[in-house]
Amino acid sequence: MISNSTIDKIFSTARIEEVIGEFVSLKKSGSNYKGLSPFTEEKTPSFFVSPSKQIFKCFSSGVGGNVVKFLMELEHMTYPEALRFLAEKYNIEIEEEGTTPEEDAERSERESLYIVTKFAEDFFIEKLHSEEGIAVGLSYFKERGFSTETIEKFKLGYSPDLWDAFLKEALEKGYKEEYLIKTGLIKESSNGKKYDGYKGRVIFPIHNLSGRPIGFGGRTLKTDKKVPKYINSPESEIYDKSNVLYGLYQAKGEVIKQDNCLLVEGYTDVTSLAQSGITNVVSSSGTSLTQGQIRLISRYTKNITILYDGDAAGIKASFRGIDLILEEGLNVKIVLFPEGEDPDSYSKKLGSEELKTFIEENAKDFIVFKSGVLLKDTKGDPIKKSGIIHDIVNSISFIPDHITRSLYIKECSNILDIPEKALIGELNKLRKNRLDKKIREKERGASTPPLPDNVPLPTDENETQNQFFEDVKELAAFDFEFQERDIVRLLLNYGQDTIVVEIENEETGEQEEVETILANYIISEILSDELVFKNPAYQQIFDEYVDLFASEKEISQQHFINHTNELISKMTVDLLSFPYDLHEWEKKNIFVTTEKDKLVKAGKGAIYSLKTKHIQKLIAELQEQIKSAYEKGEDFYQFQGKQVKLENIKRELSKEQGITILR
Ligand code: CTP
Ligand code: MN
Repeated sequence: MISNSTIDKIFSTARIEEVIGEFVSLKKSGSNYKGLSPFTEEKTPSFFVSPSKQIFKCFSSGVGGNVVKFLMELEHMTYPEALRFLAEKYNIEIEEEGTTPEEDAERSERESLYIVTKFAEDFFIEKLHSEEGIAVGLSYFKERGFSTETIEKFKLGYSPDLWDAFLKEALEKGYKEEYLIKTGLIKESSNGKKYDGYKGRVIFPIHNLSGRPIGFGGRTLKTDKKVPKYINSPESEIYDKSNVLYGLYQAKGEVIKQDNCLLVEGYTDVTSLAQSGITNVVSSSGTSLTQGQIRLISRYTKNITILYDGDAAGIKASFRGIDLILEEGLNVKIVLFPEGEDPDSYSKKLGSEELKTFIEENAKDFIVFKSGVLLKDTKGDPIKKSGIIHDIVNSISFIPDHITRSLYIKECSNILDIPEKALIGELNKLRKNRLDKKIREKERGASTPPLPDNVPLPTDENETQNQFFEDVKELAAFDFEFQERDIVRLLLNYGQDTIVVEIENEETGEQEEVETILANYIISEILSDELVFKNPAYQQIFDEYVDLFASEKEISQQHFINHTNELISKMTVDLLSFPYDLHEWEKKNIFVTTEKDKLVKAGKGAIYSLKTKHIQKLIAELQEQIKSAYEKGEDFYQFQGKQVKLENIKRELSKEQGITILR
């Protein structure tokens, strides 16, 4: 287990805006950062990160929390995985507490696979600089024109040409054979003999978005046609090929900056272009482009440029990819390289500036590209031409946005010299067919039940936490919810802010202005009336707040945001105010008063509402007692006396507040 002091250190060191910035393109917006939510497919940003509170909130999906929660949600890490990830990123040494070697070995399989893969990456890099590595692997990379910088950036490596170089070292270091085999690093022959999977190959590690190696492509250096050119890692719990793009970890910053992502076919196309200074490049390495991969790109940009070599197979392959990209609502352009050239080879022929210009000048809109390619061999054949029109309109029909669609229809009408009206008719038919099909599929498919709201953390506290969740759920619906919530919200947001209140000087009897903090006012009001929160989560937050307050410890929101009780943490994040950008309003000269400016009023109002609620409940209970006593023919005057008292208190309360209650 990771020690508490390490956890504290991780939380105080990690910067949420830095960590999230690696996954989401964030723009400064007032005191917050804003971006497109990675959890939904939204088109307008509703994802906010607060550097001062160290929380994020996605207003379209409702997900919010601290930096660990973000990693758990997006990268599907477990709680300890997320902590370890952050510790590694910020060079924090992890202090383990109360673990035995057996427990270490039982650490989740995922984490083990990550660790083995990282070990292999380091091993291959080290071997690239061994005597054999320099002579064989490094000289190959140098021959291909890769600089030391490029080799380091992509963490390229070399696997010695021996049957067990890696196997021996990995076993010596205590790595389990099971994980070596699962990651494909070690293979097993039919007679049970185990050997290095990447023997004698140069290594291209594949990274996930946080930069952890998750797999490898190993290229042979032999020209023997019988030897497979590449050996790729098998899919595993950490490597899901359809949701990974080679080079995206290295490219994402530049993709954001240029607002465009270049898509190529292979590992060496990525590295060669990067070597030429074109660094916004990724590759689907070996698999055909998937929806998941396009969605990965769409987190960073809405523009994709496909770079294809000029052979027929490459062009055909591009068509399916184009439709998929259009369907995701992204813009797509295509660059076709001259016959026999690919991005890798061409980057060597042209200088880096020339290559950039070539790509810019040859990037064709998909309609221009597709019709150009297809029209080439129709030679005026009307039947063939109508097939092409159908094909292109089919592509257009995938575009979700109707304005974009109509613009493309216009362009298509110009290029193919067909009246727009005819194209629109065809388009509508295609869209309707697809919609019908979707509906039919939906009707057939059984719906999966939604996940429960609070999936508890995998800790030994589960038992008590579950009970806690049950209690809270039951009581959340209770009618004190709003009042209690408001009190806790004010405490968490503004508890430490200074307010000025008027109190009566006991000696002189005069009203005096006294400076205090909002927490002091709220806490003394609640404690003096011995009010108890109906919702145990609010009570817990309040109690802990009072404890910290009483011991004169610094009260930070982080204490509650990073609370080990997941529900407390979630509630805190929900309650912390996350103001939308006020900038637009200020520009329009609209004066915005914030709640902070009216703290005294807000605090008094909240206390007043809560107390009134309690009194109303007491009155209601009394009335029940009066009614039942009356029905049983018993004496009920004592209750009536109490009721009068309560009504008086209620009136006093409303006077203080300057509000008359009508009832
Ligand atoms: N590929 C593969 N297995 C093969 C051949 C290709 O997985 N036997 C995948 C690799 O991801 C490769 C991509 O397809 O990067 C493109 O193939 P190719 O152009 O042949 O390889 P390059 O990476 O361009 O390698 P090189 O430039 O050395 O020929
Ligand atoms: Mn190639």
